[in-house]
Amino acid sequence: MTITTSLAGSKKAFALSVLEGLRSVPKQISSKYFYDEHGDRLFQQIMRMPSYYLTDSEYEIFDHQKGSILRHLGNHPFDLIELGAGDGLKTKVLLRHLLENGISFKYRPVDISSSVLDTLQGSLEEELPDLEVAPLHGEYFQVLEDLQQLGDHQKKVIFFLGANIGNLTREESLAFLSQLNELLAPGDMLLLGVDLKKDPAVILEAYNDSEGITAAFNLNLLHRINRELDGNFDVDQFKHWETYNPLTGETKSYIVSKVQQEVEIGAISSLIHFDAWEAIEVELSQKYSVEEVEQLAKSSGFRLVKNFFDSKRYFIDSLWIKS
Ligand code: AVI
Repeated sequence: MTITTSLAGSKKAFALSVLEGLRSVPKQISSKYFYDEHGDRLFQQIMRMPSYYLTDSEYEIFDHQKGSILRHLGNHPFDLIELGAGDGLKTKVLLRHLLENGISFKYRPVDISSSVLDTLQGSLEEELPDLEVAPLHGEYFQVLEDLQQLGDHQKKVIFFLGANIGNLTREESLAFLSQLNELLAPGDMLLLGVDLKKDPAVILEAYNDSEGITAAFNLNLLHRINRELDGNFDVDQFKHWETYNPLTGETKSYIVSKVQQEVEIGAISSLIHFDAWEAIEVELSQKYSVEEVEQLAKSSGFRLVKNFFDSKRYFIDSLWIKS
């Protein structure tokens, strides 16, 4: 089997990942491939759904507790570095509050997509003209390493919000946070947004909404393979399936084949066989208990400063310091 040699870099990585994932048992494809242009739009829609409580919960924390968050950030000046800033909706609440209180800081959103950074910078110039914005374009760790090598000794406050950490396994999260810790200096801080374990019905409704937006978001992966890798998935012959395990906190999305079928993917010269009801695992959204979050802080070399909860205790923004 060959990967079409003319594929450009990022498409080649996608092709290789699809090839490896669809050949493994059980089949799996990483959720990072959800986010093409169409996937980005569907995710924006998800974040506006009332059943996707995560966005509202974290917004409420920022809106209601911005004063306390500011007090616990300690001395300034600092660089506020946001990993994966997106449209910055929640962050703007806090940025405005910091400006109004005369805090000296620079906002440094980090993203792999320069168009996301351009859009964010444009909206910030309009809404918060006094804010000093210095975007960092690239992979999270590369950007932090570059800052370290440039001898940048400014205090850093890292924001990693939106429960993005939940898309990593527990082991990957520990490795990610430990690596982040190593790139920071004593006194630097991390504000980590984590979705908490709760009534399983609430969690399932967030990832299996009755309008079918999450289903469309997940199944877009098959459309993307058709579009970009010359696949011939008949998407109607697959369905979205969601599970939540209240013991482990693992919330998992699957794409399940409704029938026995063969799918051809031109770019990887492959014919993939599906048994009836065979599944592809496509996303993990890990939920944590408060104790597990605190343990994660310790194990990755941080000290807990304060936990900020929303009124329903659905979500936590946990503030840590490197000591
Ligand atoms: C981006 N990430 C934190 C979302 C989540 O909740 O895992 C992605 C998502 N998947 C389905 N709905 C939202």
